Amino acid sequence: MTQNTLVNRRLVLAERPQGEPTQETLQLNETAIPSAGDQQMLLRTEYLSLDPYMRGRMSDAPSYAEPVQLGEVMIGATVAQVVSSNLKNFAVGDWMLSFNGWQDYALSDGSGVTNLGSKPAHPSWALGILGMPGFTAWAGLTQIGKPKAGETLVVAAATGPVGATVGQIGKLLGCRVVGVAGGEEKCRYAVEELGFDACLDHKAADFAEQLAQATPAGIDIYYENVGGKVLDAVLPLLNANARVPVCGLVSQYNATQLPEGPDRMNWLMGLILCKKITMQGFIIFDDFGHLYPEFAKEMTQWIEKGEIKYREEIISGLEKAPEAFIGLLKGENFGKRVIHVAAG
Ligand SMILES: NC(=O)c1ccc[n+]([C@@H]2O[C@H](COP(=O)([O-])OP(=O)(O)OC[C@H]3O[C@@H](n4cnc5c(N)ncnc54)[C@H](OP(=O)(O)O)[C@@H]3O)[C@@H](O)[C@H]2O)c1
Repeated sequence: MTQNTLVNRRLVLAERPQGEPTQETLQLNETAIPSAGDQQMLLRTEYLSLDPYMRGRMSDAPSYAEPVQLGEVMIGATVAQVVSSNLKNFAVGDWMLSFNGWQDYALSDGSGVTNLGSKPAHPSWALGILGMPGFTAWAGLTQIGKPKAGETLVVAAATGPVGATVGQIGKLLGCRVVGVAGGEEKCRYAVEELGFDACLDHKAADFAEQLAQATPAGIDIYYENVGGKVLDAVLPLLNANARVPVCGLVSQYNATQLPEGPDRMNWLMGLILCKKITMQGFIIFDDFGHLYPEFAKEMTQWIEKGEIKYREEIISGLEKAPEAFIGLLKGENFGKRVIHVAAG
């Protein structure tokens, strides 16, 4: 069934995944469309953002945010339109950056939503380059990575919304940028379209040697998106005073236990000590929310001047969201993955 004006389709968390989510993790059901009460508006979801952090919300392991409860609608950022409104500053037809979750309709009292106006040029970009992922790239790189011209920056998930933006900002700030991505096509895109100096396929058997060759002056900034084998290959190449903004560890999100192998914890601590490395984790809006206006101004200028490129992969239909999310964690996306809920 496609989106309509008769029912609200919702994807609810049916079970907590052990390892990779499956088709049983989320269940599609229908409810009545709610009506806007006093000081409320009804929003119709146009676009739903798919983001790696959602895997964490499916689990009840302790984390920086509360898990989604079983039976609840899966959470998610959305771009939606106002269908009816009893709120002063929100008119029917206005576009909102909201948090409707994985469903067609949601009520809002106006708190925590951003009014994008009646005719935003690229509504879905509020979920990507001009929203949370773009801001994450900018803040993690500038505030923790502190790049200086001439330094070497390495970033993985290099064609995704965070990695692609990190690398392009790094180039604008004068760094040598080495991307890491899954496969030849993504690597070619990072070099030819995004202007990276090099991009390496982490699936190659000799990936660690390739990375060493591509970073002859060592690595000054490693923007950590993935962990796992990429991190293993990066660590010995870090220079003295290197900075490591720890943004995400997507290679581990489906892991059910720590990887086997020798315990290298003390080796890592020794490396951090001897090379005076700064490793800092961050949660974008907890740590840097106050900088959003500065980011938005700078990013808008870069986009207008054609200095930053943005690639979206839009998939039509709410019912496709579970499969699309499972694929995102495995690198099946090429660019920012967004569900066009209203189209399917
Ligand atoms: N700290 C924060 O506040 C914050 C905010 C937003 C995002 N994040 C994090 O930022 C990272 C990137 O987010 P995004 O939205 O831009 O994601 P994304 O790049 O659209 O998607 C994740 C990518 O990770 C790569 N990947 C998956 N498994 C991998 C593995 N085993 N080894 C290496 N790469 C692997 C895949 O790209 P390839 O096919 O190229 O390998 C996949 O496309 C994620 O870790 C996310 O959790 C953190």
